[in-house]
Amino acid sequence: MTHTQTHAQAPSQSPAQKILVTGATGTVGRQVVAELLARGHAVRALTRNAATAGFPADVEVVQGDLTDPDSLVPALEGVTGLHLITFGGPYFTPLETGPRILESARAAGVRRVTVLNGGGPTLLEDAVRADDGVDWTVLMPVEFMANALEWADGIVTSDEVREPFVSRLSAMVHEGDIGAVTAVALTEEGHGGQEYVITGPEVLTVGDKVAAIAAARGRDIALVELTEEQAVARWRAAGRPEDVIGFLLDVYGNTPEVGRTVVDTVEKVTGRPARTFAQWAAEHADAFTA
Ligand SMILES: NC(=O)c1ccc[n+]([C@@H]2O[C@H](COP(=O)([O-])OP(=O)(O)OC[C@H]3O[C@@H](n4cnc5c(N)ncnc54)[C@H](OP(=O)(O)O)[C@@H]3O)[C@@H](O)[C@H]2O)c1
Repeated sequence: MTHTQTHAQAPSQSPAQKILVTGATGTVGRQVVAELLARGHAVRALTRNAATAGFPADVEVVQGDLTDPDSLVPALEGVTGLHLITFGGPYFTPLETGPRILESARAAGVRRVTVLNGGGPTLLEDAVRADDGVDWTVLMPVEFMANALEWADGIVTSDEVREPFVSRLSAMVHEGDIGAVTAVALTEEGHGGQEYVITGPEVLTVGDKVAAIAAARGRDIALVELTEEQAVARWRAAGRPEDVIGFLLDVYGNTPEVGRTVVDTVEKVTGRPARTFAQWAAEHADAFTA
């Protein structure tokens, strides 16, 4: 779990609504929950294991599994908005159940749906886009700032980060800002039929990020560049499947323009500037400190 704080209370632009958040225990999902609560809405959080979900008491936690659409029917009762992820297992295996989930949502009277894009087309996202009975918004964030937490062990134990492609550029986004854009799209008019690329406010290299974390924790960090072969060996040793490794080589070695170009979606949709990596690093300094 991350320790990201939301912005100061955002004024609610709309009457209180009840929203079902799937992926609620995840990096983005927890931020969607927090941003909805901060705007005065009621949240129902879906998880496969309610006992370990760890939400505050004002969140209604419901158990369900996206691979079993029948398990979602009670969770959808009485909600006006639905936030969806597109996967249902390890390494973001795409869900096959999207059309069924959407049918249940429509039957329950859901009016607005957001989908967290998984980097490519999925049955679920296709079904959402084809549905003219709901106001849907597809969220297309670039790299999450939270990915930097993968460096925490190396930083804490040896004051170093070992990465390939250290000069790659990223317009990485604070996951709290993905949560804020999602919360607005789920509860306010004017976001139906939109596809939102969501980025942070600046383009950074790996070295820039490492320097920001070093400043936040008050101690230097060495950046060691790995060769492609060394990176692949490390990812294999960590059990990453070959297709995931191929994906990482592609996006790190040849980052598409969308991943390294700042856009103003956060400010336009939420009325607040996108949060910087320096802010993120200050919020997470403890994770990088022994
Ligand atoms: N990391 C990045 O830089 C990046 C950038 C752009 C897009 N993305 C996309 O963002 C998504 C990942 O989001 P995230 O990092 O927030 O996820 P995450 O932290 O890995 O969380 C996974 C969530 O999925 C839920 N889940 C998994 N299988 C489920 C199932 N069968 N039924 C119900 N819930 C299930 C888990 O819930 P429980 O365990 O509680 O059931 C958990 O809340 C992916 O689609 C990825 O492609 C990532």
